[in-house]
Amino acid sequence: MSNIENFTEEKASIQEIEKAIKDHDVSALSSIIRKEMGTNGFIHITSKMATDIFEEIGHQLGETLTNTSIKVDKQNEKKAIEARAYRSKDRPLAYSAKGINFHSDSPIQKTIGFYCVEQDKIDGSLLMLDMHPVKDHLSDDELSILKTITVNWGSMSDGKEVINKAPLFDEQNNAIEIYYASWHLQENISPAQQKVLTRFQDFITHTREQHLLKIRLQAGETIFVNNRRMLHARETIADNSQRHIIRLGIGLAN
Ligand SMILES: [Fe+2]
Repeated sequence: MSNIENFTEEKASIQEIEKAIKDHDVSALSSIIRKEMGTNGFIHITSKMATDIFEEIGHQLGETLTNTSIKVDKQNEKKAIEARAYRSKDRPLAYSAKGINFHSDSPIQKTIGFYCVEQDKIDGSLLMLDMHPVKDHLSDDELSILKTITVNWGSMSDGKEVINKAPLFDEQNNAIEIYYASWHLQENISPAQQKVLTRFQDFITHTREQHLLKIRLQAGETIFVNNRRMLHARETIADNSQRHIIRLGIGLAN
């Protein structure tokens, strides 16, 4: 990995963030987070906070759709596999130690929050790519074709997974809306779609090589990320890793 960039909350004032955390001022924190996500697609807050403030920020940013405690856990891994509507190559599991390729979480999650309870001893970094420049990398015709490619996403109903579909690329109010997971791509892709998909995947490779964002959260640190703009990933960790992350999936504001 080269040219690793690590943007922290340098642009928002650290003092401002620390004061808001100390004062338990969730609304001030949420407005700083919204602003930074609008500019950079994410914010990494190195000032330590407690989990209750993290969860309250989640509620302020939108509807909390999921609140998941992520740790390597064989039993949870087995349960999650059994609930799945289908298995496909490379489809990852949050509870597995195995690495996870670049992807978006489910598209109804506009924002994802990550809170570190305990970090892996060796690495456990969150890797991210900003897909915002894809609009300049592909032509309008290519972007139109990208909009026709659908990607599955699962929602749970009575403990079983139901499959929904969303376009890989869309635009809302001039902002890109990406939803990508290679293991969820539609079957039967036409040659024209395949050509553009390859260009899109080449862009991911290029961004990974040139503009990889790598953040190794420490206990008490948080990241909030625009799930429809950024892709995220993680490398393999040890089976006995104690890495513990709380992940919030946040939908639109109530
Ligand atoms: Fe994810």
